[in-house]
Amino acid sequence: MKDRLVIFDTTLRDGEQSPGASMTKEEKIRVARQLERMKVDVIEAGFAAASPGDFDAIHAIAEAIKDSTVCSLARANENDIGRAGEAIRPARSGRIHTFIATSPIHMEKKLRMTPDQVVEQAVKAIGWARNYTDNVEFSAEDAGRSELDFLCRIFEQVIKAGATTINVPDTVGYNLPGQFAETIKQLIARVPNSDKVVWSVHCHNDLGLAVANSLAAVLAGARQVECTINGLGERAGNASLEEIVMAVRTRADVFPVETGIDATQIVPASKLVSQITGYPVQPNKAVVGANAFAHESGIHQDGVLKHRETYEIMRAEDVGWAQNKLVLGKHSGRNAFKTRLAELGIELASDEALNAAFARFKELADKKHEIFDEDLQALVSDETVTPEDEHYKLVYSRVCSETGETPQAAVTLTLGGVEHKAGAFGGGPVDATFKAIETVAKSGSELLLYSVNAITTGTDAQGEVTVRLSHGGRIVNGNGADTDIVIASAKAYLNALNKLHSSGDKVKAQGDV
Ligand code: KIV
Ligand code: ZN
Repeated sequence: MKDRLVIFDTTLRDGEQSPGASMTKEEKIRVARQLERMKVDVIEAGFAAASPGDFDAIHAIAEAIKDSTVCSLARANENDIGRAGEAIRPARSGRIHTFIATSPIHMEKKLRMTPDQVVEQAVKAIGWARNYTDNVEFSAEDAGRSELDFLCRIFEQVIKAGATTINVPDTVGYNLPGQFAETIKQLIARVPNSDKVVWSVHCHNDLGLAVANSLAAVLAGARQVECTINGLGERAGNASLEEIVMAVRTRADVFPVETGIDATQIVPASKLVSQITGYPVQPNKAVVGANAFAHESGIHQDGVLKHRETYEIMRAEDVGWAQNKLVLGKHSGRNAFKTRLAELGIELASDEALNAAFARFKELADKKHEIFDEDLQALVSDETVTPEDEHYKLVYSRVCSETGETPQAAVTLTLGGVEHKAGAFGGGPVDATFKAIETVAKSGSELLLYSVNAITTGTDAQGEVTVRLSHGGRIVNGNGADTDIVIASAKAYLNALNKLHSSGDKVKAQGDV
């Protein structure tokens, strides 16, 4: 019998700390449901004390999710832990994850606390957390640069105080695999009560070693890995869930552990997170990149045709790569539409939302003969926008683009329900449209990123546009999809403006106590 490797997904917390990757409550619930479908053991749903919006999202996820443990992060102070405890209260299985920094540089320069004070605060934090749940995780932030003797001391004390999982983060991605494995081995050997807890690791990817360090730690005795879909996360990101899961599974000859993950849900999860956050997946990304199973050279193609395992160590279908499935067409009815959405795990909040999505599906089916699952996913993402979130709304858009002429756009928008019209010239039709929108919106925001992807194949495919805007220190992503990429662009721009318009001030998760 192999040990269970607990998969702790932090896409909704550490992943959301990537610039511009912030998600709305509805988007977070969709991601959480997909993680549950994938059978992730623990979903870190956010950092409850960061903002009222984070609190609400964690609370809603705790209500919605039944099969995974729902966790909130909390700094080691009574207020944060109280917020986390309240946020996870509805969960069938809830966890509080509290942390304090333990490296000399963090304790001295950031916390301005002595090591004794840090131990005392950590022990108190576990006590506060145990008032809400007996599932308490403790992280020693920047453990990767902390002194081993001090880690042994603080871990022994927090285990005595009731922590049930001990997490060893390489917060700044500084470690090398052999070194990190040795740290884990030493900790398990030297902490006297180490057998009372699950040992966990949380590795950042600053040197591109997050997955390697996590896997080395598993070989050294760690039994929980913290990771994210597509390796999203603070700076260079976290260890990627799909790589960890498939390495453990593909090299079952080496790893004494197995996960409970349904790997066929990996690609749908990757696409969903990429679509919502606007972070594209590089084509050569392991497991989930578009080329991960594509064979270009003749020798490789010939080999795979003769015997697949000559050049493939995993099967594309095992991680959820399927042929684009023609699901519905112009003549499909409301019931077929609803059933397919349910099969994709999409539940719309009300009958009105379903009717609106169905009407949009019919419009799309008129323009495009074949509707694929990816089209449905893009289509319903618009249904999660509530009227309160939609301060800026597109009523009409027209562009004129001719050889030798300057492209020109005209738009009609509503701002808080009041209609405005504007026109502008630009370098291209999209540029002209954005300029026309800005003539009305006057947001003063800076465009950081503009990208277009075809959702499916063919020239009638919907274009999915991501627009990243920055204003007053906030960075947001907007998404829009349409068979007309200028309209998709206008929708994405307005979606980003609407996100900037909604309040969303947050405390950073790596703050002081
Ligand atoms: O990287 C880190 O140290 C963290 C902790 C809060 C676990 O994200
Ligand atoms: Zn982190």
